[in-house]
Amino acid sequence: MDIITEKAYAKLNISLDVTDRRSDGFHDMVMVMQTVSLCDEIRITPVSGGRVTAKCDLPFIPGDERNLAVRAALCFLEALGTAGQGLHIEVMKHIPVGAGMGGGSSDAAAVLRGLNRMYGMPFGVGELETLACQVGSDVPFCVAGGTALAKGRGEKLTPLRPLPPCRFVICKPEFSISTPELFRKLDRVNLRNHPDTAGLLLALERGELGGLCRRMYNVFEDVEDRRLRVVSEIKGILLDHGALGAVMTGTGSSTFGVFEPGRELAGVCGALKESYGFCVEAEAVDRLCAD
Ligand code: C5P
Repeated sequence: MDIITEKAYAKLNISLDVTDRRSDGFHDMVMVMQTVSLCDEIRITPVSGGRVTAKCDLPFIPGDERNLAVRAALCFLEALGTAGQGLHIEVMKHIPVGAGMGGGSSDAAAVLRGLNRMYGMPFGVGELETLACQVGSDVPFCVAGGTALAKGRGEKLTPLRPLPPCRFVICKPEFSISTPELFRKLDRVNLRNHPDTAGLLLALERGELGGLCRRMYNVFEDVEDRRLRVVSEIKGILLDHGALGAVMTGTGSSTFGVFEPGRELAGVCGALKESYGFCVEAEAVDRLCAD
């Protein structure tokens, strides 16, 4: 078996709604999601010895089963009936950790795609998404990515028409926000506003970038948390520099703006990087694989 490399792309939530709290501890969501060009790089090497291990260029990322990439590999081998095959997974991180960009989920999904190639494509996309759901809520979307509507925990996926041409500026402040913590805080607020997902989907269908950007909305921004003031600040800077819309992705803390193509973005990127530490430009990436 050959060594396999895969790109693990970040995701952005164009919109994020939480519609229900479920009895299993999870929440029902309605999200419009987009894959973007910022990516980690994954390299999978078959090894003897029967263990699955990972090594990341960031030393604080664990190399055992706490790492979603390792869990994804174990799920894949189990489903294929080849549990006991040893693998070593190397992860070169470029997606910030704890950022709401699905970095860990995307690494896990890239491992599923990579192992599927390594073994001669035994599973279809739908089957990989079902495996992905055992690993984490955002992993199913990250398997094929592109532009999609995600419902339920994130596993009920409908591919959507790609976004009209645009550019993203993504800024992550130095702090991270814990996902379970923000969900707990969300449970304490009575959400009064929800994204107009139907209007957003119509704007997308019509290819209207402005209409789509006006409807970008994330209910997690309504949670009581003083760190979210920084998110508002970043949104203000993005909008002042001509973004058509700006929103926090996932449970944060990354916040992004959508710009028309051809706009000069070096100025806004430089200003955000100086104030908040991390800022990159990115573009939309289309669906990675289909059945
Ligand atoms: O599925 P994942 O491991 O990514 O979820 C992390 C945590 O986020 C869960 O333990 C849960 O607290 C929360 N979560 C949720 N509802 C979702 C997704 C995640 O409550 N749909």
